[in-house]
Amino acid sequence: MKTIAVAEGDGIGHEVITVARQVLELLHPEYEFFSVEMGYGMWEKTGCPCKDHEIAALKSADAALFGAVTTPPMKDYQSVVLRIRKALDLYANLRPVKGSGFDIMIVRENTEGLYSGIEEIGTDRATTLRVVTRKGTERIAKAAIRLTKARRLLTIGHKANVIKSDVFFRDICIAEAKAAGVPFNEKYIDALALDILQHPQAYDVVVTTNIFGDILSDVASFLVGGLGLMPSANIGDRYALFEPVHGSAPDIAGKNIANPIAAIRSAAMLLTYCGDTTGAMMIEKAIQQTLLDGIKTADLGGTAGTREFGEAVAKEIGRRTKR
Ligand code: NAD
Ligand code: IPM
Ligand code: MN
Repeated sequence: MKTIAVAEGDGIGHEVITVARQVLELLHPEYEFFSVEMGYGMWEKTGCPCKDHEIAALKSADAALFGAVTTPPMKDYQSVVLRIRKALDLYANLRPVKGSGFDIMIVRENTEGLYSGIEEIGTDRATTLRVVTRKGTERIAKAAIRLTKARRLLTIGHKANVIKSDVFFRDICIAEAKAAGVPFNEKYIDALALDILQHPQAYDVVVTTNIFGDILSDVASFLVGGLGLMPSANIGDRYALFEPVHGSAPDIAGKNIANPIAAIRSAAMLLTYCGDTTGAMMIEKAIQQTLLDGIKTADLGGTAGTREFGEAVAKEIGRRTKR
């Protein structure tokens, strides 16, 4: 039995996570699910987007399923996602990009870099300190190398030609890769962002710093049909949280048109983490079959709503579990 914390967040988070949760409940009726409210909506109601109590609730679960939260670009508003990632020390952000002829795993450092939170806005100048530590780099390099051992190549994405903290990051990643004996290469992040689109088959595991991984994963989502299809896992040594790569998409929220695939795939990654790889594979097959049947949301050129797509996937899973 597993306990799963479910935080829908804001905007389309409510719609896509409802579907993803239903898929998990269908496969694992014995799991215990509980809801955690956090995000911009919570801030509007209470003046606080996430309290210590909610962080403790996430920590109390075996794993968490998370939607997305709205983060307004305000001076004094702290992003809830960033707070969670730091509080649970979810240092490895895994963002798979899989399609015909390519299978890429972006491994994004998730707790430091340009997201250090050490920053200030003055009258004439604003600064953000980019912090890259040895501990932070070694552990993300090791996480990427563990994945590479079962795969074929590690690519280190950086900007060491210009940024000294990236010289530090690059050198540590190379030392770790050499020590582990895994094949590796390296590429400047700007060139990599284009090349991953032109030659996706040339990439396997890609390790990079926080902001570069953030941008690279949105870019790479182009390969699979957009943000509505990209799942992710945030993994630490003690906790794990699964969420789509996309945000709360206020432009389409509340219309039942968001693509729930990214959220459903994130639920599949949660199942793998919980030890049910068969269930995870079944979810992916059910998604593929639903798409083959021509059931698609608007972002993929279809007419199915979020709920209808979810129902079709659930039906497909139902057929497969009865066999
Ligand atoms: P976004 O990912 O929410 O949306 C970008 C574009 O992609 C929009 O046009 C949106 O309609 C579309 N899109 C996203 N998900 C989709 C889906 N499932 N189906 C169909 N179309 C989809 O990014 P944004 O607009 O830059 O940010 C909106 C808000 O979300 C901001 O407040 C931002 O800070 C927040 N955000 C949160 C997270 C998170 O909580 N993990 C991640 C990214 C952005
Ligand atoms: C993501 C998001 C977050 C990030 C934001 C909302 C803090 O863009 O998960 O990709 O930058 O990591
Ligand atoms: Mn992002």
